[in-house]
Amino acid sequence: MFYKTEILKDFIPQVVLDSIRETVEKDVANLINNDSVGAVHGTYYPVSNEIHDRLRKLLPLLDEEKLYVSYLKHSQPTGPHTDTNISPGDTSSDPNKFARTFIIPLETQDTNTITFNEYMEHGSVGEQMHEFIAALPETNSITEEIYKQYLNWETEKLKFYYSRLSVEIIFPWIAGDVLIFDRKRIHTGDNHLNKMTNKQALIVWSQV
Ligand SMILES: [Fe+2]
Repeated sequence: MFYKTEILKDFIPQVVLDSIRETVEKDVANLINNDSVGAVHGTYYPVSNEIHDRLRKLLPLLDEEKLYVSYLKHSQPTGPHTDTNISPGDTSSDPNKFARTFIIPLETQDTNTITFNEYMEHGSVGEQMHEFIAALPETNSITEEIYKQYLNWETEKLKFYYSRLSVEIIFPWIAGDVLIFDRKRIHTGDNHLNKMTNKQALIVWSQV
């Protein structure tokens, strides 16, 4: 099973976003330090059951689709990855059940998520991505303009990835819009370092 990429335009009214945001901020304020999970590019904060319930009612879900919601505060651009990594010691996650990622900006921010046409096989885990990209032909399909505007990190590894990936869609972070894509699809945040260092959104990972 592979889920198509969708943008839900103007999907969440501002008044609903504001109220979600208020609850999320309370949830984060009530956390003890150990509850948040640090990643290279930022910190994921768990959110309350109330937010899970609200999103379950709000989002167009599949039968039996289970959600895991966190509030992400980004400090660094991510670079290409899939959302199929399993945390060390996590024996309950099954890559064969991984379904979709939802990105829900709570306010309009000067940043974008870029999805690529390339995605991995069902059941793949994130660690296999480098090998997967290395086996792709070098197509250099990303234009200079897109590269300069969104992807301009000067590292050899990233240049290597971008010589083999092709852009599917660019999702600007606009309040009310929601991006949905398959967790196995390769995607990245843009290089927002010159513009902002505190990118924030609700990130939902699902399993079916
Ligand atoms: Fe991601």
